Amino acid sequence: MNRTIIEVSDVITSFGENLIHDHVSCSVREHEIYALLGGSGSGKSTLMREMILLERPQSGTIRVLGHDLSSLTPMEAMELRRSWGVLFQSGALYSSLTVGENIALLYKEYTDLSPALSNELIQLKINLVGLPPHAQYLYPSELSGGMIKRAALARALALDPKLLFLDEPTSGLDPLSSRQFDELILQLRDLLGLSVVMVTHDLDTIHHIVDRFTLLGEKRVIAEGNLTEVLRVDHPIVDYFFQKGSYGITR
Ligand SMILES: Nc1ncnc2c1ncn2[C@@H]1O[C@H](COP(=O)(O)OP(=O)(O)O)[C@@H](O)[C@H]1O
Ligand SMILES: [Mg+2]
Repeated sequence: MNRTIIEVSDVITSFGENLIHDHVSCSVREHEIYALLGGSGSGKSTLMREMILLERPQSGTIRVLGHDLSSLTPMEAMELRRSWGVLFQSGALYSSLTVGENIALLYKEYTDLSPALSNELIQLKINLVGLPPHAQYLYPSELSGGMIKRAALARALALDPKLLFLDEPTSGLDPLSSRQFDELILQLRDLLGLSVVMVTHDLDTIHHIVDRFTLLGEKRVIAEGNLTEVLRVDHPIVDYFFQKGSYGITR
């Protein structure tokens, strides 16, 4: 079994009076595609944001790549931030910059690469995510929804991360584009040896490319494991998400 690279233990999160996570624990293994599934407002994005240092739980520990996130030196925090790529729900590209310029920003901020080398890497990343070469010179408004996701993915991969975080990567895409995006994630995981954590509502994604996932509900982890393991858990939220007969699995 692959080693654990993210370990969430006993996390409690609240915003004011609003309790979001009540002793949540789960773990992600190296090279897996791991999903956070749950109803709207169940705390999936918040848990992901805690894993990437954008939010802090009230208590509990989160370890990423061997580091306890609550006791990082500024240097360690910077190294960690460089070791993961993030694709936010909206895609979050700057609309006033071309795709290439959006990616170039990261090289300017985090590296000493020459403009020529940076440009070669931009072309490589654009190619990697299946966009045509001229996409480098297009503005986000000139791209389809699926192309925007790919461009945002190219940017997330700019610094050769080991870990990739995706928040609802297929939301807003039509079914065909969603399946193509899933396929791309799977190929990139294998090609680049990535570990992937994604927030998703998409049961087709869970079925086709996700290795293991956590089902969040009632502020807790209802179930964690692969699809077969989760379907074995006797809980109304599991029934709500999965029509068991359609997966050919009976309890
Ligand atoms: N920064 C914040 N301040 C206050 N409440 C927040 C904040 N972020 C999230 N919440 C609340 O936490 C709950 C979980 O949000 P979120 O993690 O975004 O859910 P999900 O991604 O599962 O839909 C929601 O009720 C949301 O309103
Ligand atoms: Mg969310």
